[in-house]
Amino acid sequence: MALELKYLKSKKQMDFKKKFIEIRDIYKSYRRGNLIIPVLENISFDIVEGEFLALMGPSGSGKSTLLNLIAGIDKPDSGVISIQGVDITTLSETELAHWRASNVGFIFQFYNLIPVLTAFENIELPLLLTGLSKQERHEHVILALKIVNLEDRMHHFPGQLSGGQQQRVAIARAFVTDPTILVADEPTGDLDRVSAEDVLELMTRLNFELGKTIIMVTHDPKAAKKARQIQYLEKGIMHAHPQIDV
Ligand SMILES: Nc1ncnc2c1ncn2[C@@H]1O[C@H](COP(=O)(O)OP(=O)(O)OP(=O)(O)O)[C@@H](O)[C@H]1O
Ligand SMILES: [Mg+2]
Repeated sequence: MALELKYLKSKKQMDFKKKFIEIRDIYKSYRRGNLIIPVLENISFDIVEGEFLALMGPSGSGKSTLLNLIAGIDKPDSGVISIQGVDITTLSETELAHWRASNVGFIFQFYNLIPVLTAFENIELPLLLTGLSKQERHEHVILALKIVNLEDRMHHFPGQLSGGQQQRVAIARAFVTDPTILVADEPTGDLDRVSAEDVLELMTRLNFELGKTIIMVTHDPKAAKKARQIQYLEKGIMHAHPQIDV
């Protein structure tokens, strides 16, 4: 089925060469008591609009930390994260929350669906923060359900869905507000191979057909191969190619 949603931007409207996300000189450390743990050091790179970037690297290398900074969930110690001309590191917590709500969709390893809400209600949740009427919300949720091919499961609760189906509901929830950026932290990490392939195909279509800019953390080289570009983090430092010990 072609992804034709009248309220979602079509690929034709996107400028795939435009510098979209500019990350400059990012430093991030965590404090535990008196101990300072440096996590990211001097990270600088650009992400063009319509990119599908896979972020790889060993456990503890700072992938989730970097993803959370780009998504405005956390702030760096220093540096600039400019997204469509807005340096999100300078926004207040309230401004950042508004910015996130309209610009970013999140996909997590363990789906993070609300167990007492149906698939439909889970997808509708982020729309409750918008000014859409009940009828409009209904239309948007149904279209999102169609895209992830789960219309026949809309009244099921998460516990009545397979892992792959739950992740597809979570993906529908991530894009139903039509954000420009989708961030995914190991979206296939808890799935069997077939479900993982379904989820990756869906993400590829969101990127190719709707021009969503996707940043995906993954340990799985097969998942990373679906991306347009791969970056590696190693001990808080970014590489375009994996460091090979000789
Ligand atoms: N809230 C926190 N407080 C203190 N230290 C933290 C916090 N979050 C992460 N860290 C530390 O920062 C480092 C990077 O963590 P991060 O979660 O970004 O790694 P990762 O590359 O995503 O690893 P994984 O592949 O295991 O998910 C780790 O050493 C971790 O212990
Ligand atoms: Mg992580």
